[in-house]
Amino acid sequence: MDRFRIHGGFPLKGSVVAAGSKNSTLPVLAASLLLQGESKFKRVPGLRDVDTMLGLLESLDSSVVRMGDEVQIRVADSGRTSAPYEIVRKMRASVCVLGPLLARRGRAEAALPGGCVLGVRPIDIHLRGLEALGARVSLESGVIKAEAPRGGLQGAEIEMSGPRGSTVLGTANVMMAAVLAAGTTVLRGCAREPEIENLVAFLNSCGALIEGQGTDIIRIEGVSELRANLWTIPPDRIEAGTLLLAGAATRGKVRVEKVLSSELAPLSNQLLKAGVPVQIGEDWVEVDAAETVPQATSLTTGPWPDFPTDLQAQWTAFATQCSGLTEVQESIYPERFLHVAELKRMGASAGCESGRAWVEGPCALQGAPVIASDLRASAALVIGGLVAEGETIVKRIYHLDRGYEGLENKLVDLGAQVLREVDSESP
Ligand code: EPU
Repeated sequence: MDRFRIHGGFPLKGSVVAAGSKNSTLPVLAASLLLQGESKFKRVPGLRDVDTMLGLLESLDSSVVRMGDEVQIRVADSGRTSAPYEIVRKMRASVCVLGPLLARRGRAEAALPGGCVLGVRPIDIHLRGLEALGARVSLESGVIKAEAPRGGLQGAEIEMSGPRGSTVLGTANVMMAAVLAAGTTVLRGCAREPEIENLVAFLNSCGALIEGQGTDIIRIEGVSELRANLWTIPPDRIEAGTLLLAGAATRGKVRVEKVLSSELAPLSNQLLKAGVPVQIGEDWVEVDAAETVPQATSLTTGPWPDFPTDLQAQWTAFATQCSGLTEVQESIYPERFLHVAELKRMGASAGCESGRAWVEGPCALQGAPVIASDLRASAALVIGGLVAEGETIVKRIYHLDRGYEGLENKLVDLGAQVLREVDSESP
């Protein structure tokens, strides 16, 4: 197992290029199960979650060739239909193959994912949507089994929102099942995230007839087949946001290039509220906090275009360097605060309870050994380590490798002292 050794206390300075988006890549790769011919994807990030999805596609009788950041996938009409527990357990996004398998191969099985450190995370809305399209869905010994009716899936009107609002992967999953269903499907209460817009654009480029992406009502006219296509993955707004927050927290000057700056607006606006100068080009965003004392600003996470939950932990780390009381309300995953206890071990004046965290800044953070608990919490601890005086060891960074491509290299390019090393104390 690897760990990071960070010598902190220096401002980050310079430019880095964003990687392709993890959360756009995963559903688009799952969608390749729907396509005739050979799909080719560019700007595919080198991440553990992407490897897991490619391994899952191979286990479903697809041929996968990866060369650098390009991936080619060829999928047969028929083949295995079951996503095994060992893969679903590693990555919840594996459930995204249910919709495409059901649409193309008439049946689909996936182990029911359990809870995770972000909380319970049910998939009831995914299953409800597939049932509404006519699938027979059952749970047997921890495995979800879905079977399309003899005449194939049928378009339907489906309500996609639940008690916590819309679901991103639920919208993707049901939409992918509906593209090959007979007739019209109308999905209401859909997620409006950029990753859904990207998936729709990709499917439409393959011959699907989908409209309404970016709104909460998506309308799909079923087609009989989809042809594989070449697709370039858009930039990762969460990776870019993490690097900008690392720049702001260290009072540095950081530019992230090859981004879609409009997708970073929820973060840029929040940084501006905190008094951090932000410059925005069409495909780059720069923060320059060298001459500023950032001010505490409270926020509530929410679905697009609200502040993303996937930047909440990193904002909490940045808040340790803001002057005053920051309150962070988590409306998507009320239990997503495991980073707070570790930041406190570094000297943060912070706490959390029932869906809310607070930080009283500015805090003089001290380097310490800390343990990463999930992907974004790990990123928050890295930001803490970059700010802290002295040495921070971030253990279990395999969580980071799920969603950040060579993060330490980008940070080193920005002048940080970060070393990846084998952690001989951990199994
Ligand atoms: N929910 C339900 N029922 C469902 C599905 C979701 O109640 O059937 C609830 C969830 O428990 C949660 C809320 O709805 O409270 C929203 O969850 P959503 O389904 O939107 O999450 P997701 O699609 O499983 C994706 C990202 C997450 C990101 C969320 C929210 C991927 C692979 N994952 O998850 O990314 O936090 O949307 O934006 O796209 C990350 O990258 O670190 C990450 C966790």
